[in-house]
Amino acid sequence: MKLTSGYKAFWDAAHKHYPTQIQPKGHLDMGVAIGSVLNADDSDRFVRPSERVWMSTIYPWIFDKRRTKIGALALTYKGLILLKTPFDLALYPRLIWELQPRTILELGSYQGGSGLWLSDQMSVLCEMPGEVHSFDLYVKCVHENARAHPLLNFHHVDLSDVSTFDQDLLMRLPHPWLVIDDAHVQIFSIFSYLNRFMTPGDYYVVEDNPVNVNREIIDGFQLIEDSGFLIDTYFTDAFGTNVTCAPNAWLRKS
Ligand SMILES: C[S@@+](CC[C@H](N)C(=O)[O-])C[C@H]1O[C@@H](n2cnc3c(N)ncnc32)[C@H](O)[C@@H]1O
Repeated sequence: MKLTSGYKAFWDAAHKHYPTQIQPKGHLDMGVAIGSVLNADDSDRFVRPSERVWMSTIYPWIFDKRRTKIGALALTYKGLILLKTPFDLALYPRLIWELQPRTILELGSYQGGSGLWLSDQMSVLCEMPGEVHSFDLYVKCVHENARAHPLLNFHHVDLSDVSTFDQDLLMRLPHPWLVIDDAHVQIFSIFSYLNRFMTPGDYYVVEDNPVNVNREIIDGFQLIEDSGFLIDTYFTDAFGTNVTCAPNAWLRKS
């Protein structure tokens, strides 16, 4: 897969130029890691929500609960507030690089720190940088430094009323899309509405709500499955089962 394509290149270069160093105990030896990746079977990467358990190996927000300087000061980007776990900060760049999205739609701007970070990631990782569109009810809290980014746009929307979306905008935004729902408002109604504008290959990430599994989540994920979305376990399980703020919720439209 594209995400691990560099492993083969390294393996070939090391064997060609430094055959003794790639052997066990050599300076380039990584134990079984490289061989495991090269021989990995990723045929089960995409799975239906109904086939998944909801357990997480660890709760990814645990660090945030500490009333310590480290916990309180960790959630920043370029001085602005960025409310994402370290695991998710490591996952999104991989998805952005693999997917090469032309549009990122973020529901829930807060101060704009996450939109700024996504825009910077996009400008570095995408061959054809697209645009980030971030939506919130309280857009006056967005910092001027986020507003100044050339790829980043903020929109006023009330997610409790989908008619406040600019439908013309959604129809003209190029694909692939990466949608990130971090607003926690009517998540499945919003999903159903935005799905009408989505095309196969687009991704939809639902942050935080799926951490608390209840009837609404189970029923909502059945709706997601019935809408043709599969869980991408590369992202949900990269650091352990569901070690992400979006358990079972890195979703790809088939
Ligand atoms: C968790 S914060 C977003 C955090 C941000 N994405 C980040 O990673 O730093 C949730 C956001 O949802 C917004 N929100 C809450 N209710 C909303 C509504 N009805 N319509 C639009 N946005 C809403 C809040 O204003 C808040 O900025």
